[in-house]
Amino acid sequence: MTKQKVLIFDTTLRDGEQSPGATMTHAEKLEIAELLDEMGVDIIEAGFPIASEGDFNAVSEISRLAKTSTICGLARANFKDIDRCWDAIKHAKSPRIHTFIGTSPLHRAIPNLNMDEMAERIHDTVTHARNLCDNVQWSPMDATRTEEDYLCRTVEIAIKAGATTINVPDTVGYTAPVESADLIRMLINKVPGADDVIFATHCHNDLGMATANSLAAVEGGARQIECTINGLGERAGNTALEEVVMALKIRGDIMPYETRIDTRKIMHISRRVATVSGFAVQYNKAIVGKNAFAHESGIHQDGMLKNAETFEIMRPEDVGLAGTSLPLGKHSGRAALRAKLAELGYDVADNELKDLFVRFKDLADRKKEVFDDDLLALIQQNDAVE
Ligand code: KIV
Ligand code: ZN
Repeated sequence: MTKQKVLIFDTTLRDGEQSPGATMTHAEKLEIAELLDEMGVDIIEAGFPIASEGDFNAVSEISRLAKTSTICGLARANFKDIDRCWDAIKHAKSPRIHTFIGTSPLHRAIPNLNMDEMAERIHDTVTHARNLCDNVQWSPMDATRTEEDYLCRTVEIAIKAGATTINVPDTVGYTAPVESADLIRMLINKVPGADDVIFATHCHNDLGMATANSLAAVEGGARQIECTINGLGERAGNTALEEVVMALKIRGDIMPYETRIDTRKIMHISRRVATVSGFAVQYNKAIVGKNAFAHESGIHQDGMLKNAETFEIMRPEDVGLAGTSLPLGKHSGRAALRAKLAELGYDVADNELKDLFVRFKDLADRKKEVFDDDLLALIQQNDAVE
């Protein structure tokens, strides 16, 4: 089956960093950008250059360092923001200006522009950006709560003014999968010039549907997914890069799309982003959580020891983990205990295992997890009793 390409646009350093408390230092941003570049991210949104001197400097330096990724900077819909953005990214091998304005009724009220005035602003700012850079992305912020006719009208203006990517943000995580697919499909079918641009999806996770909405948008025709490592981002976060990339890889049978991401680099960058942002990854987070490839219950451990596919749909090595883990606890069974003992170099006879298992269960009832040292102590006690 031939697979269509889906571009991965990472915004950990822009939308991700906008999470309250997730600010990263200059050196940390460079490190994360380098890892994103190495893992095959197509476009890195490196920051919001007008926001601060620090953001400007980080975006400029990332632009000079990036080897293969396109480097994108964010700009509001005014010439000053766009000029500052261009100054920061112009040294990149492949620069992109991303300019946006809120198009929904609630967002139009903020700059106090009527529909016609906003349409003119979009025309002028996208034209200006395109005169500076031949790669321009335009976003109607809060697209999913914008009137359909007005959304089509503004997208058409942006395309005519020279936008090469149209991003459709679900800014407040309001949409649902069916609607997400329909919205992109509708824009592609209705807006003149839509065939000449790439449509992107940018989802937030307020209702926990960001990954599903992004994948549905791809079904609807989007060919760029905007996401962040660990789903970092405003409020409940953005679509998690590791989730959409692995979903496309594992379920290629029903979603025939491919990305350029080297998935074996996922775990390392996830840990680095958790450390530098100070946002720990929840234990049961898909793909990168501590428990994503861990099994404690006896039935699961026994199944895993016989055939890893019994309870795992992807290989831990494919996301950069050394292997599955079978932590020992009160739900564990004899098979896992025997396997762990063998790993520690003890080949115990059946009667000895029976005895050890009783003592192990007793300990596990008192402790959340039984570690290697606990087991070694149990063995020594057993030897002393004998
Ligand atoms: O969520 C959003 O609408 C954004 C825009 C700036 C694209 O992050
Ligand atoms: Zn966003």
